[in-house]
Amino acid sequence: MTDLSQQNIDRFNDLAAEWDTNPRRAATAKAVADAIRQIVPLTGTEQAFEFGCGTGMVTLAVAPHVGHMLAMDSSSEMLASLHDKINRSSTANIETLEGDLADTPPKGRFDLILSSMTLHHIADTKSLLHVLFKLLQPGGRIALADLDREDGSFHGDKPGIAHHGFDREELTDWLAAAGFVDCCFSTVHQMEKEMDDGTTRRFPIFLVRASRPE
Ligand SMILES: C[S@@+](CC[C@H](N)C(=O)[O-])C[C@H]1O[C@@H](n2cnc3c(N)ncnc32)[C@H](O)[C@@H]1O
Repeated sequence: MTDLSQQNIDRFNDLAAEWDTNPRRAATAKAVADAIRQIVPLTGTEQAFEFGCGTGMVTLAVAPHVGHMLAMDSSSEMLASLHDKINRSSTANIETLEGDLADTPPKGRFDLILSSMTLHHIADTKSLLHVLFKLLQPGGRIALADLDREDGSFHGDKPGIAHHGFDREELTDWLAAAGFVDCCFSTVHQMEKEMDDGTTRRFPIFLVRASRPE
């Protein structure tokens, strides 16, 4: 396990109890889940895999629209929050997995791999995209949401950040190099964030959809 991975585990274990109380995060998760349902779109039968599911704000919104959802996170406390919600809800098709995707990919193949605001925490994006490609069934799709490239002010000096967002053209090239086709970006949300100087800035969030060829 890398220092970056451990920083993320420590940080998200500390944040888990208050994660859902921030309306900015809830609004982003809702926008991403709505966009996944519109842009992918879903048939209700998919074997889906989400990495970096956190407390499950996107997971719980997408799960009713797929056949089965495997939700993975490296933070035990974020997953504990998701477990509480699963136990209190009537959702029966979510299975959770604790682990670091870069170290221990899940077993099996999936029709859909989704993620929201997690790509920027994983250092080697190019290798990760190769891992995701291998985890997909032929014809399977990814739907990944994250920040557009920014100047670093979104996270400031918080630990565990590997990328200050992504350049869409560069990510398109990396997806193509991993074998993905039909790559398509949408701007699905503008996240508003108050800066240290009291001003408010808007950070665009993209959703990229791409497919493994049949
Ligand atoms: C910014 S949070 C987003 C959580 C959730 N997707 C949401 O939108 O509320 C990033 C999540 O990714 C998880 N994470 C970071 N690196 C990871 C990795 N390598 N493997 C699995 N999960 C990871 C963190 O524990 C955290 O829960």
